[in-house]
Amino acid sequence: MSCGCDKESPRDPRGVVREEYGKIARGGGSCSGPSSCCGGPAAGQVAAAVGYSPEELAGLPAGADMGLSCGNPTAMASLRPGEVVLDLGAGGGFDAFIAARKVGPSGRVIGVDMTPDMIEKARRNAEAFRKSSGLANVEFRLGEIEHLPVADATVDVAISNCVINLSPEKAQVWREIARVLKPGGRVSVSDLALLRPLPDAVRESMAALVGCIAGAVLVDETREMVRAAGLVDEELKTAPDYIDRMAEWSDPLYRELSAKLPPGTKPSDFVTSLDIAATKPAVVIGA
Ligand SMILES: C[S@@+](CC[C@H](N)C(=O)[O-])C[C@H]1O[C@@H](n2cnc3c(N)ncnc32)[C@H](O)[C@@H]1O
Repeated sequence: MSCGCDKESPRDPRGVVREEYGKIARGGGSCSGPSSCCGGPAAGQVAAAVGYSPEELAGLPAGADMGLSCGNPTAMASLRPGEVVLDLGAGGGFDAFIAARKVGPSGRVIGVDMTPDMIEKARRNAEAFRKSSGLANVEFRLGEIEHLPVADATVDVAISNCVINLSPEKAQVWREIARVLKPGGRVSVSDLALLRPLPDAVRESMAALVGCIAGAVLVDETREMVRAAGLVDEELKTAPDYIDRMAEWSDPLYRELSAKLPPGTKPSDFVTSLDIAATKPAVVIGA
């Protein structure tokens, strides 16, 4: 399956990302065929590989897992009943629904996504989730993660799965996360990151951008942005084996990526899954 983004293109990257994820939400496919992040039929396979349990997956509305994840942020978040969770780039609501069961009826989950078709799909899923679980604690808001439609200091835990790499303004996203977290609030984000810079041929590919690779930045750059936003106690853990698995599954995007890498190198030499934990200081120093 192919789309407009499988060729190099001078188009606005944010517009391309929105358009391609809109197609995925409508069930129209993916950037270069079945691939994680870019979307594809390997949904359950990707989720199992990053540690989602069969019970968690069984409790999801049909179609919420589109194989778009690259980590398991709710697993590291240690969510507690009653907490308010924000899911940045919630897609069809995959992690939002898993979080909703963990925070229970006294908690709340807000999913934000900039793609109208994703929000529509997530809201339909929320209705199905309400009927199957009896929980009405998930809502989805249309918006950009660089300008979160969420009030200051209202969130206990910010989660996100394979999204921040897609943002052209990552430092701004981290500042927004810090703004909406309550003092003492936590971050649990999974994303793709770079172990070393990508060759230009990959960095400039719109297919690789939509596939969550071309927009990724170095692990150390991510750490700097987290700290610059005022978050503390950051822990960044790499998991390059996720990339090896995608390559093993002959994912078309990873095949294309391999072809553009220098001889003797493989995708996981450049790209890794990254788990990021951090907290907002409970007391602002100097306040
Ligand atoms: C790879 S998908 C991940 C979806 C979901 N987190 C999951 O794991 O199933 C990326 C999602 O982020 C959304 N997105 C990308 N950039 C965004 C931005 N700047 N603001 C809000 N949403 C964004 C896309 O519309 C898409 O739904």
